Amino acid sequence: MPRPGPDAELTPAELHSSLSDPLLDVMNFLNEVTLRHPKAISFGPGRPYDGFFEVDRIGDYLTAYTRHLEADLGRTPEQIRTALFQYGRTNGQINELVARTIANDEGIHVDASHIVVTVGCQEAMLLVLRALIAGPDDVLLVTDPGYVGITGAARLLDAETVPVPEDDAGLDLDALRAAVRDVRARGKRPRAVYVIPDFANPSGASMPLDRRHQLLDLAAEEDLLVLEDNPYGFFSRTGEGRPTLKSLDTRHRVIYFGSFAKTCFPGARVGYVIADQPVLGGGARTVLADELSKIKSMVTVNTPAIAQAVVGGMLVAHDCRLREADKELIDFYRGNMNALLDALARHLPQDRWPVRWNVPDGGFFLVMTLPFAADNAFLEEAARDHGVIWTPMSYFHLGSGGERQIRLSASYLTPGQIEEGVRRLAAHVRQRIARGS
Ligand SMILES: Cc1ncc(COP(=O)(O)O)c(C=O)c1O
Repeated sequence: MPRPGPDAELTPAELHSSLSDPLLDVMNFLNEVTLRHPKAISFGPGRPYDGFFEVDRIGDYLTAYTRHLEADLGRTPEQIRTALFQYGRTNGQINELVARTIANDEGIHVDASHIVVTVGCQEAMLLVLRALIAGPDDVLLVTDPGYVGITGAARLLDAETVPVPEDDAGLDLDALRAAVRDVRARGKRPRAVYVIPDFANPSGASMPLDRRHQLLDLAAEEDLLVLEDNPYGFFSRTGEGRPTLKSLDTRHRVIYFGSFAKTCFPGARVGYVIADQPVLGGGARTVLADELSKIKSMVTVNTPAIAQAVVGGMLVAHDCRLREADKELIDFYRGNMNALLDALARHLPQDRWPVRWNVPDGGFFLVMTLPFAADNAFLEEAARDHGVIWTPMSYFHLGSGGERQIRLSASYLTPGQIEEGVRRLAAHVRQRIARGS
């Protein structure tokens, strides 16, 4: 007979090793600083701007979706009730609408059954990594600096990640080839490379067209899959969009992560993955999307029907052309990035101050390089004494790197807040340079 014992107590050593990994903790510091200094202007979060959200629209989109089910698909009232209230198909209910939208917006033409609608793009990353990382020898290559969502998901799955440096034009392909060969020389299998070709988070870098082709060729030569993540592709600052890797992919090399967090709204938590890679063997021919469905059935069962209905309604309401629907939003983010660049140039002219920043072609983020360490202590001082917050770039490196860099996000603020925030940031930076320590 078990006897009553003391209360259960857990130690970190008994829990999964990812929970002791600083990677999963870094954002907590930023959140905590933000909570302690609520009046500070924050260039920290890559959140969408709130000003375009209208509460009444949620109901309108829901209605647009049910009308679509009835009028376009001929569903009965009972079928519509089931579609909204019941558990749904694991791989999604709005796949046709998503397929039409990405054909219109991105020139990506795929069968709806090759798409899995997920709980944000984040779930898609977890599903894909779970499927691809078959054992301890499988390695994921990631851009460095990189997105914490992918490296964090890899940590949860005990998958080894190998950083590959970026330059101003995105992933360094010579470094990628060298990393692939190095992984093989260690007796391991380089499985896939994760990349954000357009307006990357955190660096703001974008890949020119020729490098996109070269990456696809390299992937074929080295038998790699490419995980393309594209949440920011709409938000070109210069007006010149480049084709996605997936739209250039003729060899099923690219697994494409899509998110509606920035192009619709993140509260719906709806994203998707295009996984059209054939899976052969076992007598049956499936595609990777079918395999992902098995994993998804054990993670979230299905993406909430209500969330899909609202996003589906938004797609229907805009004739599956989000790029046109988002025109005002795209203009707003373009304006914000320009306002940030303009304010930096006025408050910290580079001919007078030893600071540098990149000039992204679009997206939410830019990186500033300082002549001193931009660590947690400097961040704390920025928030407390100057009322401004940003993200240390060291958070986004797998090893060392980014110690003197900060990421500035221009998405969440108004142009007026950007101006004031840069004024405060510049005052702090100038003071710190003058202090010389
Ligand atoms: C690089 C990257 N991928 C994906 C996402 C969005 O993921 P989700 O659709 O899960 O919100 C973000 C949002 O911050 C991101 O920066």
